[in-house]
Formats: sequence, C-alpha cells, structure tokens
Amino acid sequence: MYKSRLLGIGMHVPSNVVTNHDLAARMDTTHEWIVERTGIEERRWVLPGETGADMATAACKEAMEKAGVGPKDIDLLIYATLSPDVNFPGTGVFVQRNLGLRDIPCIDIRQQCTGFLYGLTIADQFIKTGAAKHALVIGSEIHSTGLDQTTAGRDVTVIFGDGAGAAVVGRATDDEHVILSTHLHADGTEAEILWTEYPASKHHPRMSIEAMEQRLHYPQMQGKKVFKHAVTRMPSAIMEGMVANNLKLTDIDMVIPHQANLRINQMVAQMIGLPPERMHNNIQKYGNTTAATIPICLHEAIELGKVKPGDLVCLVAFGAGLTWGSVFLRY
Ligand code: UT7
Repeated sequence: MYKSRLLGIGMHVPSNVVTNHDLAARMDTTHEWIVERTGIEERRWVLPGETGADMATAACKEAMEKAGVGPKDIDLLIYATLSPDVNFPGTGVFVQRNLGLRDIPCIDIRQQCTGFLYGLTIADQFIKTGAAKHALVIGSEIHSTGLDQTTAGRDVTVIFGDGAGAAVVGRATDDEHVILSTHLHADGTEAEILWTEYPASKHHPRMSIEAMEQRLHYPQMQGKKVFKHAVTRMPSAIMEGMVANNLKLTDIDMVIPHQANLRINQMVAQMIGLPPERMHNNIQKYGNTTAATIPICLHEAIELGKVKPGDLVCLVAFGAGLTWGSVFLRY
C-alpha cells in the first residue's frame, strides 16, 4: 500500500471583479449588509467566452508545473463542480483535451462545496492502491451565469463567485509530505434546503416557462438552516480527523475551511478553540466558489507563506447535499 501527497497546487480566477457596490446597483442590497453578514467585499465573475474548463485548464497547468510533472505523467483526472459547462459529457474531458492528456479515466463528481475533498479522497485511494501515480483533482465553478440578479435572489447571489483550483496528487516518499486522513459524509434528508431544481430530467418537460416564472432555475437556499448545519458539521469533521490522527489542536498549523460565510468560519474556530491566525480565509476577495474554494484558499495560504512544506494542514468543508468532510495532510 502506497501513501499519497499533494505535489502542486494551482488556481485561476476571472479578471472581472464584481464589487458589492456593483451588485447594489442591480438589486436591493448594500455593501455594508454583505460585509456584515458574510465578510465578502468582492468576487470574480466570468465574462462571455470564459468557461469552467478554461479556468480549470489554467489552474491545472500551474499545479502541474509546481509538481514538476507533464501531461504524459497524469493518469487520472477528477473534476468537481455543481456548474458543468454543458449537461453532458462531464467537463473533465474538455480539460483532458485542453491539456493533451492521454486516454486516462476522467471522473466528474457532484458534491458541491465538499467536492474538492471528495475528489482528493478518490485520488488518495487510487494512489494508495497503485491504480494511479499522478492524479489531477480539480474544483471549478461558474455560478454567475446561473444567479438571480434581482432582489428576489439577493440572499444567494451576493455570496457566490467563479473560479478554479487544482492539485496534482502523487505518491508520498516520506512521512513529512503526506495525506494523513480523509473523512467524508453526506445526509440527504434535507437535500432541498440548498438546491437548483430546474432544468431536471424528473420534470416533463425538463424546463418550462412556468418553472422559469417561479424562478426555479435559480439556486434556492434556506440560509439560516444551512448556516446551522455548517457550524455543527465542520467542527465535528475537524474533531473526527484529529481523533483519527491522534492530534491535539496545537499540532495543527493551519485550517483551510470552505468559504461560504466568514461568520461561519469564525464561529467554527471559536467553537473548537482555534486561534484566528491558524485559519486562513479569503472569502473577502472571491466569495463562495464552491468546489474551487479549498484549492484557491490553500494556494493563497501557500503563496503567502502561511502554509510551508511539512506543515500540518486541515482542509474542512460543508455544502449542499448536505455533504461535509475533512482531509488532514502534511504539506
Ligand atoms: O456554500 C454552501 C453553504 N452555504 C452556506 O453555508 C450559507 C449559509 N447561510 C448564510 O451564509 C446566511 O444565511 C446568508 C448570508 C445567506 C443570509 O444571512 P442571514 O443573516 O441568515 O439573513 P436572512 O436570510 O435571515 O435574512 C435577514 C434579512 C431578511 O430581511 P427581513 O425578512 O428581516 O426583512 C432578508 O430579506 O436580510 C435580508 N437579506 C438581505 N438584505 C440585503 C437577505 N439577503 C440580503 C442581501 N442584502 N443580499
């Protein structure tokens, strides 16, 4: 049995910055409300012509360069998104084509904000068994083309941003740079508290004028319920990983949490007694980029020198499904 590690991380966000003031010009909201309730100051939204696969391709190129691997070395691609470029095929094959990869398996997965951790876990298993040597794990999202930019959708629309992050996962050769544990969960009993219902194959027809008039093709969220689940599930996922690895809180150098709401992350840190400087947040700049959030946030923490080689890092996420989990690693 092998062990796996992160070999390189890359990210890409659109150049188009959308500020809270830009949103306030389109709907009944204010910069002050958004900052106070979410921490978000601006986000990136794609311009026509930019695709999820394009952003992912740029993120993968950076991750591969940092990992010191080329297209021929990649033998597995996992693409996590809730916003695929087209209904089918999965977006992963477009990234495969863009990068000129071999005819390797490309797996698209749908675990929303926990998608990148599900992807890392799958890659970890492939590496451990020897079925793959170098896996690309991608989180890429375009929310902006599917958001209700009127006052009716303001609770959801102000929090989401577009972007992509990617990691090359490969074999660990020592215990200083290694994925230590992965813990994943899902509970579908309240799946409808955060979802986009239309278009859907269960409806006849999949899309209708009536559904659009009821705005059912836009994401719907019961924000307070989701918030309560987030501040329960994320601390429990961190604790689960700590117990599995026999760690104390002081052993963790940095927590990289999903970025859905700064208040959620501050509450999580407070609940487990984590000093604020050992959690990295960047929701202020990018909003919630769902499956792309964790690699974007980890990438930034590495670039800022907040995560250094050998550091003990906890990745933790929660999202629609509901899904949640943690990954502990030595970077
Ligand atoms: O990534 C997946 C997981 N997602 C999450 O974890 C999101 C979790 N939920 C949240 O982050 C928060 O619930 C939100 C940020 C979405 C909303 O914040 P909130 O403090 O829960 O506000 P609320 O939905 O209870 O709304 C409070 C008030 C309402 O007005 P009334 O009914 O009190 O008059 C809303 O209509 O704020 C109003 N409101 C807004 N006002 C200005 C909702 N959205 C906005 C807005 N601007 N954008």
